Amino acid sequence: MKTIVIASLSGGQGKTTTAFFLGKLLSQSAKVLFVDADPQSNLTFFLGHEVEANAPTLLELIKALVEPAEAVYSLSNPNQFLIPADDGLSNAQEYLASSGMGAVVLRTRLKKLAQYFDYCVVDSPPARTQISIATVGAADYLLIPAEASTKGVNSFIRTLELVQSLENLGAFTGSILGVVPFRDKWFGRSQSKDSASAIAAMKEVAPQLQIFPSILESERYKQALNQGMLLNELGYEELENPFKAVTKALEIKSLYVVEK
Ligand SMILES: Nc1ncnc2c1ncn2[C@@H]1O[C@H](COP(=O)(O)OP(=O)(O)OP(=O)(O)O)[C@@H](O)[C@H]1O
Ligand SMILES: [Mg+2]
Repeated sequence: MKTIVIASLSGGQGKTTTAFFLGKLLSQSAKVLFVDADPQSNLTFFLGHEVEANAPTLLELIKALVEPAEAVYSLSNPNQFLIPADDGLSNAQEYLASSGMGAVVLRTRLKKLAQYFDYCVVDSPPARTQISIATVGAADYLLIPAEASTKGVNSFIRTLELVQSLENLGAFTGSILGVVPFRDKWFGRSQSKDSASAIAAMKEVAPQLQIFPSILESERYKQALNQGMLLNELGYEELENPFKAVTKALEIKSLYVVEK
């Protein structure tokens, strides 16, 4: 199983959007486990899952109150599975902080599920908290969506700083797949100045990292999300390019990297 963590340390950077479309696309030819690691539980909602009272979620998995498989739910698509969240996930903060090795807890728990899935796609919360530290620590591949704006550049930088600090502690053992610019604005054939300069700044900050095709500013992504569908199913195949490019990058990496 390859664990792809979607992280960006600011609100509204396209994390959930990216997790949703990338996971769905991968599930066309592989078994995908979605993990909702955000107490806002937007991914759980968009995947159409309702958490029942007292049903195990990511919280119980993190706290090791259940076997990992007990927190996994099948979705209507036979290739898609979910470890859901609800707002109770905030209670994981204290547990992770006091465990003394919070950054490796999620990675350790997910290992038990590795034999059942090809990919695990993790949606992270927006702030630098124990939970986001645990998701980054669980990554084989980290993907950073960042708004094509000054706020997005800052979110990108903060995320790189978190990765660096975990790397220094030996708690990040994955690799950064790259950055996906989010809400890139174009007017016909010309890109807005703000978008262009923000993406240029991202390149300058991390020239070694891949910049994937942008998620364009468009209502169509929301439309597809709300309907639980892929963009190509709604006739907007070209808007799927960012996720196709990430899928391709993952396939190429798998040719060179020995599976853990
Ligand atoms: N292509 C797009 N153009 C404009 N808005 C979009 C696009 N795709 C998604 N959105 C909207 O942008 C908002 C932020 O997207 P998303 O929820 O994916 O970000 P996030 O990083 O997960 O946010 P949070 O940090 O709150 O979890 C959402 O309201 C979403 O519907
Ligand atoms: Mg989100």
